Amino acid sequence: MFQVRVMSAENYGFAVGLANTMGWGMDISDFGFSQFLEPEGCFVLCEGSTPVGLATCVGFGKLGWFGDFVVEKESRGRGGGGVLLGHAIDYLRSMGVESVGLYAYPHLEDFYGRFGFRVGSGLKVLCNDLLQANSLFVGGFESGVDFSLLSDFDCEFFGADRSRLLEGILQKRGNLCFVARENGVVVGYVLAKVQKGVVEVGPLVCRPDRFMVVLDLLKVMLCRLVGRRVVLYLLDGQNVFEEFLLGVGFRIDFSLLGMFLGKSVFNSGVYLAESLERG
Ligand SMILES: CC(C)(COP(=O)(O)OP(=O)(O)OC[C@H]1O[C@@H](n2cnc3c(N)ncnc32)[C@H](O)[C@@H]1OP(=O)(O)O)[C@@H](O)C(=O)NCCC(=O)NCCS
Repeated sequence: MFQVRVMSAENYGFAVGLANTMGWGMDISDFGFSQFLEPEGCFVLCEGSTPVGLATCVGFGKLGWFGDFVVEKESRGRGGGGVLLGHAIDYLRSMGVESVGLYAYPHLEDFYGRFGFRVGSGLKVLCNDLLQANSLFVGGFESGVDFSLLSDFDCEFFGADRSRLLEGILQKRGNLCFVARENGVVVGYVLAKVQKGVVEVGPLVCRPDRFMVVLDLLKVMLCRLVGRRVVLYLLDGQNVFEEFLLGVGFRIDFSLLGMFLGKSVFNSGVYLAESLERG
């Protein structure tokens, strides 16, 4: 008999161990951050009193995101994953969320489909194990941030208010942000979460009519990350940026399906996702 409980700090060790059986490279601070964003939205699946699975979700007003979904191998195929997903959807709806998004492994399309999720746009995970300086250039972008301008700009393109998330990223020492402005008005920005073993670049949001700014934001950020292992999540249909990234040594690690329960909220202007678990 499966039950779902809200994750507590005592479960973080279990959560990290289970998530990393999937090679997701997580640590305790990842679950701490998820719980900072959505204290009641991080779940442990239990069989009796034994934890056997986990998932996290986060609400951004009317949009919610589901991720970090894994059940121990020995407990799979007996309905536990379904219980966990159903619980997270109910939780998000109780918070006023109208559409739920997730990034799915393609072989799980039917599984999520059974819950009403439909395929939207895809996403590629690109990785560069040791970023080289080669064809990068250093541009003159601003690294100081007027946070309210940035979050308003982001909301216009992402389609939901994720200011708490962006502020959480910006407040963490070592993380990076570059903002492009024209006549004082924000036209694009890029963030990077700098962790011990890997740097995640994203979100990158830019006005869709400022193609060159996207490229410049990418370059200025990557310049700061030479010598590091870098991963980023490029939304489908960005062939020019994909070519640029492959040209500077990135490889496509794997592809995922963006799926939505409810209205798809993919907007033009979002080039790099923030993460797989938060959209
Ligand atoms: C996805 C996952 C959480 C489901 O948990 P679960 O407890 O097995 O879920 P349920 O028992 O409710 O449902 C099982 C269904 O998942 C789907 N499924 C799971 N693994 C699958 C696979 N490798 N290929 C195709 N379908 C798969 C099937 O639809 C299966 O139904 P079936 O048993 O009737 O074939 C679990 O398989 C898992 O931990 N996988 C590894 C991590 C992962 O892939 N996470 C999802 C990231 S998008």
